Amino acid sequence: MIKVGVIGSGSMGSGIAQVAATAGHEVVLFDTNQDALEKAMNKLQKILARLVEKGRIDASTSTEIFDRITPASNLNEMQGSGIVIEAIIENLEIKKSVFSRLEEICGDDCVLATNTSSLSVAAIAAACKNPNRVIGVHFFNPAPLMPLVEIIPAIQTEEAITSATRELVGSWKKVTVLAKDTPGFIVNRVARPFYGEALRIYEEGIADFATIDWAMKEIAGFRMGPFTLMDFIGNDINYTVTETVFAAFYYDQRYKPSFTQKRHSEAGWYGRKSGRGYYDYAEGGEMPIANENKELGDQIVWRVLVMLINEAADALFLNVASKEDIDLAMTKGVNYPKGLLAWADEIGIQKCVDGLDDLYNEYLEDRYRCSPMLRRMAKSGNTFY
Ligand SMILES: NC(=O)c1ccc[n+]([C@@H]2O[C@H](COP(=O)([O-])OP(=O)(O)OC[C@H]3O[C@@H](n4cnc5c(N)ncnc54)[C@H](O)[C@@H]3O)[C@@H](O)[C@H]2O)c1
Repeated sequence: MIKVGVIGSGSMGSGIAQVAATAGHEVVLFDTNQDALEKAMNKLQKILARLVEKGRIDASTSTEIFDRITPASNLNEMQGSGIVIEAIIENLEIKKSVFSRLEEICGDDCVLATNTSSLSVAAIAAACKNPNRVIGVHFFNPAPLMPLVEIIPAIQTEEAITSATRELVGSWKKVTVLAKDTPGFIVNRVARPFYGEALRIYEEGIADFATIDWAMKEIAGFRMGPFTLMDFIGNDINYTVTETVFAAFYYDQRYKPSFTQKRHSEAGWYGRKSGRGYYDYAEGGEMPIANENKELGDQIVWRVLVMLINEAADALFLNVASKEDIDLAMTKGVNYPKGLLAWADEIGIQKCVDGLDDLYNEYLEDRYRCSPMLRRMAKSGNTFY
């Protein structure tokens, strides 16, 4: 079995190290910050102990997994790895300098992977003399629990590297999808309206946070309403992702961030981690009561859902991924109750087109433009599946 190098021992790096070690690989975990590395090793030990307590693994397996992870304080220890997965700070210049140093340390046959969420894999690969073996391998947080990994070949990546990496990550009991090197890949692009349209509905005064959350959870079947989810993710982080995607798409109005979220972030109302977000999590804080009006709920669900379907259809239209991978990404990466394209078939493509056109005609905003993919399909009477 190949040795796996992981760079960066934060939330993602330590999770990825756990995944690879659990799959039986020797793992070398490197961080420039000794303190972070020590904390990561302690955390890993605790997580593995908890898995034993819960009866998921036995004590000897837990020890074996932990012993397979070696903390390293020198990047040279990546030598001999079959793959190195970088999960450091989201900064292009720093990532590029790490990749160019890695190229000197690792053998020619070592795959160099990045866990970036928002940077271009092509830009990171360009730091290497041989960019053909650089690839995006995007895990979701927490990596040991979330089944999805997006595999993102850059335009420079060799076909054989893509298939070998996909096979390797698949052998770690992960569901892999192939995504084009475009902003947000699949999940962080297609999911934007779940937050953006919910925020817009609130800003228009159609419903409050609790009512929108109730509708999306109880009527549409999402595991969590958008405001509860944004409070989990952190409004600072979710806002930054939205802003990054918006800029990366040359300010396409479909991805326009919301002032409501910006203000929450500026106020330090990040969500659960700060004790207050859209909801008050302080002791004694009261949860607002939703207006469980079915007609209003249906209206909310329809508007968010048709925008999500449009985004999924447009990702397919622009060949970001296959229809199967787009649906898998949303069900396995963010627990959507159904694949959005399968959902569109169920609703009826013409009905989706009409819904989007109604929104467009009302607001005359580019945000509501219907994807040519949906329009063409409606015209020809085709379905996605
Ligand atoms: N947190 C998420 O939900 C999430 C999900 C998917 C992908 N990502 C991506 O994964 C990467 C890491 O995110 P995170 O949330 O784990 O960050 P984090 O802040 O928890 O951890 C980053 C770690 O990298 C270390 N580091 C910084 N510069 C380094 C360098 N030059 N060499 C070695 N180590 C260095 C830091 O000391 C820190 O321990 C980012 O690219 C992020 O976009 C994050």
